[in-house]
Amino acid sequence: MPVIFSKQSSEFHLFNDKLSYIIKILENGQPGNLYYGKAIDCQPDYSYLLEGGPRALAVYTRENTYFMSPQYTKMEYPDFGRGDFREPAYVIRQENGSRISQFVYCGYKIFVGKKKLEGLPAVYVEKEEEADTLELCLEDKLTGMQMVLSYTIFREYPLIARSVFFQNHGQETVYLEHAFSASLDLPDANFEMVQFSGAWTRERQIKTRKLQQGYQGISSRRGASSAEHNPFLFLKRKSTDESQGEVYAFSFIYSGNHLEQVEVDTNNMARVSIGIHPEGFDWRLKPGETFQTPEALLVYTDEGLNAMSQTFHRVFESRLVRGTWREKPRPILINNWEATGAAFTEQKILEIASAAKELGIELFVLDDGWFGNREDDQSGLGDWYVTNFEKLPGGISGLAEKITKIGMKFGLWFEPEMVNRDSDLYREHPDWILCAPGRTPSPSRNQYVLDFSKKEVVDHLFEAMERILDSAPISYVKWDMNRYITECYSGGREAGVQGMVYHQYILGVYTLYERLIEKYPHILFESCASGGARFDPGMLYYAPQTWTSDDTDAYERLKIQYGTSYGYPVSSMGAHVSAVPKHPGARNISWETRENVAMFGAFGYELDLSILSSEEKQQIRNQNEFYKKYRSLFQFGTFYRLQSPFEKNDAAWMMVSKDQKLAAVGFYRMHEVPNGPWVRLRMAGLMPHEKYRIQHLGDRVWYGSELMNAGIVIYPKDMSLDGKDFSSALLLVEMV
Ligand code: DGJ
Repeated sequence: MPVIFSKQSSEFHLFNDKLSYIIKILENGQPGNLYYGKAIDCQPDYSYLLEGGPRALAVYTRENTYFMSPQYTKMEYPDFGRGDFREPAYVIRQENGSRISQFVYCGYKIFVGKKKLEGLPAVYVEKEEEADTLELCLEDKLTGMQMVLSYTIFREYPLIARSVFFQNHGQETVYLEHAFSASLDLPDANFEMVQFSGAWTRERQIKTRKLQQGYQGISSRRGASSAEHNPFLFLKRKSTDESQGEVYAFSFIYSGNHLEQVEVDTNNMARVSIGIHPEGFDWRLKPGETFQTPEALLVYTDEGLNAMSQTFHRVFESRLVRGTWREKPRPILINNWEATGAAFTEQKILEIASAAKELGIELFVLDDGWFGNREDDQSGLGDWYVTNFEKLPGGISGLAEKITKIGMKFGLWFEPEMVNRDSDLYREHPDWILCAPGRTPSPSRNQYVLDFSKKEVVDHLFEAMERILDSAPISYVKWDMNRYITECYSGGREAGVQGMVYHQYILGVYTLYERLIEKYPHILFESCASGGARFDPGMLYYAPQTWTSDDTDAYERLKIQYGTSYGYPVSSMGAHVSAVPKHPGARNISWETRENVAMFGAFGYELDLSILSSEEKQQIRNQNEFYKKYRSLFQFGTFYRLQSPFEKNDAAWMMVSKDQKLAAVGFYRMHEVPNGPWVRLRMAGLMPHEKYRIQHLGDRVWYGSELMNAGIVIYPKDMSLDGKDFSSALLLVEMV
């Protein structure tokens, strides 16, 4: 049993082959952390790991004991205002204004399997024996509040899923001002913190810093997980690299406001906090009511960053993504947005679709502009029906029929959470937007945010989308979201619930997704938020892929996809080949390089295929034939980062099939270096003692050990690097 309770020492040991996590119920009844790291053998008592001793200015848990000061103890779920002066994991406000809680341990449960989190995305098990769960129950006698700290350890993965459940068993209403999903105290802070931050068209760029005393972290108060800070970070040792070394990684399965933070205290201990951002959060709990936090994932490995990422990739692909599209090859798609914008004609759409069919593309996606009075971004959002029959004479059903006749599948764009002032929906329900009383709501892209904390709004959207989805053979939906939340106030509701609106909004989004998935299990959903502004594990639970970025310039995409790969699988990254030169870099990047980047993703196109030359068309045709042949390798192989575009002029990554018989290596050279040095590229993930051949590199065979340890020499001529900036090579490695 991978969770052991030692009665003698009041200690819980969660372990698998890779990691151990040890919790002790401390003398004051609070759970403390003794150890989290590489697996250690089982003992009945590890209390020697409870560091302590008298220190100046310390507050102790009782008189005449100089042992346990909360301030210097590694806590599991620390409280506020009782001597632990670091970041609390939760704060509960009583009616009398007190924020002091005193939760003490009152029991535990250990069971095989993992419970579902009602209404929230979470990793799951298919068979109970895949994971084991420890629930620690704590109560605060004065208020009658209870909390359950939940830890699920997966047997196959170095992964622990944590969340917290609050229940008000008392007589009075309380407010949760702060309720993190996980808090973790590490005994030292000798780490570098790596985060994935950026902006629109510059998402998930790697930022690394050494931990220092004080606070460091990332957050979003934007109502969405955001392009600015992805809800994912890790702590690595200075010497850790892609193939070896310790990493503690943290991923938050949530799509709204979040905070991931590390506080280093005076004694070089590091407290990691993960959860809903406390600002704007004030959850009312009346007697009898409950609150479930979202889930945080903790991954530990001493095998380097690729091992960390591969854990997230496998778990997300197989135990977060659900339903029909779980681990199922994704269609090659063509999206019309970059070719036409919203002001398209049906004829242009059909021309693009016919050209696409001829080139081997499988799915046509009609983007923004098909509904209401929508020719640009000024109007129409909210009206999810066709009113402009000059543009679409047969409506969506007519167009879908024509596209299907061409032999393509049909997909459609929606932006369900938004409304333009100039729309029937807004004219009918001006009170359905988030807006503070007496204040002017702030526009962004000429649109306003619908109040998804209200059931009637979510119901309305479900019915509107249902009408369209029932009317035509739609096999894919792109769900977009093109602005952040401001004036987060839910009109017509009591003051006491306003601190719940940000979270209820996201719950409303999840509810709508869940209802649609349940009714249309065959539809492949792709989430999008002005590109990758809501690329998070919460979304992946509903939509197996996400539009990675509006930036489809191959050079920028290389960095964006490389950064994204640290926390997310390749199959989740929508990646399209688009026309050049393209904003923002206006680089003239070759077809090959654009394809060689986009293939390491859920592959597609986003340009006017109908106006290409016959050579260009042949290029695409060949490309699609190749991609289809190796699609499952590209989408569901084991991904290795080899060389970072954030560090050098050359970048490389590779995909290896699960049986290690086949691999595809992408090598990219940003700028041509005149008379430059020779470069050796070392591969990864192959079988060391098996022989491999590399397509287009003659008859020579290499042992896997040669390719991984000695590497191959990149001779531009052999690799078809074309001697220009932004050239690339795609090497197919096959076991002989
Ligand atoms: C932003 C998305 O990222 C684009 O791909 C496109 O769908 C536009 N919105 C449409 O408004």
